[in-house]
Amino acid sequence: MKIKILVIDDEIMICKSLKAGLTDIGYDVSTASNSKEAIRLAEDFRPHIVFTDMRLGNEDGIELIDDIKRVDNDIEIIVMTAFSDIKSAVSAIKKGAFDYINKPFELDQINIIILRAYENLRMKNKLFILEKQKESSLKCMIGDSPKIHEVLMTIDRLAKNDNVTALIRGETGTGKELVAEAIHNNSIRKNYPLLKINCGAIPGQLVESELFGFEKSAFTGAASQKKGLFEIADGGSVFLDEIGELPLETQAKLLRFLEDRKFRRIGGLQDIEVDVRIICATNRNLEQAIKDRTFREDLYYRINVVPVVLPPLRERGSDIILLAEFFLEQFNIKFKKNIKGFDEQSKARFLEYRWSGNIRELRNVIERIVILNDETWIRIYHLPLELQNRQTNGSPSSDARSYAACSNLTLDEKMDCIEKQCILEALETEGGNQTKASALLGISRFTLKRKMEKHGI
Ligand SMILES: Nc1ncnc2c1ncn2[C@@H]1O[C@H](COP(=O)(O)OP(=O)(O)OP(=O)(O)O)[C@@H](O)[C@H]1O
Ligand SMILES: [Mg+2]
Repeated sequence: MKIKILVIDDEIMICKSLKAGLTDIGYDVSTASNSKEAIRLAEDFRPHIVFTDMRLGNEDGIELIDDIKRVDNDIEIIVMTAFSDIKSAVSAIKKGAFDYINKPFELDQINIIILRAYENLRMKNKLFILEKQKESSLKCMIGDSPKIHEVLMTIDRLAKNDNVTALIRGETGTGKELVAEAIHNNSIRKNYPLLKINCGAIPGQLVESELFGFEKSAFTGAASQKKGLFEIADGGSVFLDEIGELPLETQAKLLRFLEDRKFRRIGGLQDIEVDVRIICATNRNLEQAIKDRTFREDLYYRINVVPVVLPPLRERGSDIILLAEFFLEQFNIKFKKNIKGFDEQSKARFLEYRWSGNIRELRNVIERIVILNDETWIRIYHLPLELQNRQTNGSPSSDARSYAACSNLTLDEKMDCIEKQCILEALETEGGNQTKASALLGISRFTLKRKMEKHGI
């Protein structure tokens, strides 16, 4: 990405010589000789750095600083002044200019200021990114199962090929967003933003203006120009979560953008080119969506270049325990507890459970357990009822002893747990036959049904 510089001076010779000199160094340079042209270029050319004369004919350079900052507050402005005009240079700095330079100057001096101003811009941007990533850098990808090794290898490949569009698929809570962060944070784009949008969470019209931005007066209510995510993320990545929910019209625009990396703001006439990697995610069956005509087939092929398929937690075997222990450690720190681990029975239950909410559900379960318990080891009676459903080991009586010892449960809750275990055992013994199970328990079939409902069996 070239650094873009706008030179504003009513002396044509200054514009011409700076344009030639700075272009030779490798910058992308535009020039303007009055404030109207300058503001138009600030909007269309989108410079990183502006050099402006303090006096443009009869116009005041100080006012122009305000106008340019209004277009984009991030633009660094450097004023070019005569030696005698130090006072206005000082007021320019007060207005928010980055620095000033006295005329006449050498190209080298200008280059040094450009490098300083650009570094300043990058630092501001970096701080912003660091803020955003503070949370995500604490998270890491846990897992040692063959399926997750495959995922990690694909992430690595995607991180190295930073222009390839990625499509992450998987049930809810399987870690799609975490994978998107891992792809971005391990690529050369990591010092630029990773911006996220959930296409299913905002109305169709808004998605488009969020992605592409809009020009002033593009529609009622567009009081000023707004940059879209693709523009703000220039150099970085955009994460399009729930891509299957994108409205059809926006799908067409996205396809065009993916083809040539150019787009127009809503209401804009000018193509804007940016360097952005797109990472998509979905838990929807896109192939079915194509059949239902709610998802474009051409877009599907365009984004499905390198798919990452996240396995559901129930298929990840011993990863379940690794993850449970990882979350236990995190929540021990967060809630200042010192729980050492899980007993074998609880682990067995973790491995059997269906985890329809996947890793997010597991994380929530562990959080709840840590909040509610002060004991050193997590035992089966510490688990939420839905996890206690199936018995792998031990007898109701041994469980009853455990429940009795559990100081966190009221007597009613302990009785409930025991009742539930007895019903589950009876059902298991009778192969799920409710009539036989009720006979074994000595209750009517109707009562059994009612109790099963109560316990969510
Ligand atoms: N491999 C992993 N190691 C550690 N934590 C993980 C892992 N995968 C996911 N998580 C954690 O699980 C939770 C859910 O992950 P994430 O939000 O990425 O899932 P998702 O697939 O995007 O879910 P949804 O479809 O509901 O948006 C997060 O708290 C995340 O940090
Ligand atoms: Mg998600």
